[in-house]
Amino acid sequence: MPTVEFVPDGKKVDVDNNARLQDVCENNGIGLPFACKDGQCATCLITVEEGMQNLSPKTDAEKETLPAAGATEKQRLACQCSLKGNVKLNY
Ligand code: FES
Repeated sequence: MPTVEFVPDGKKVDVDNNARLQDVCENNGIGLPFACKDGQCATCLITVEEGMQNLSPKTDAEKETLPAAGATEKQRLACQCSLKGNVKLNY
């Protein structure tokens, strides 16, 4: 069972394999904001401190939006990610 650690919230949450990160945030009172929920606005930009390999591959929307937002290689859009293993996230 994957564990997601949210650094700003000081929370670690156990989740089902392939859980959507957006659902995990919304169901656990995580402070990360969402707006479009469609990979377009970069409101949900996160920095993956550990476990990048445990997130689903980048979506086509992320491939367009992340460079436009000036994101680094360690950043993803939370509304586009599913979980395959442990990750540690900042935002
Ligand atoms: S909420 Fe807009 S990109 Fe994720």
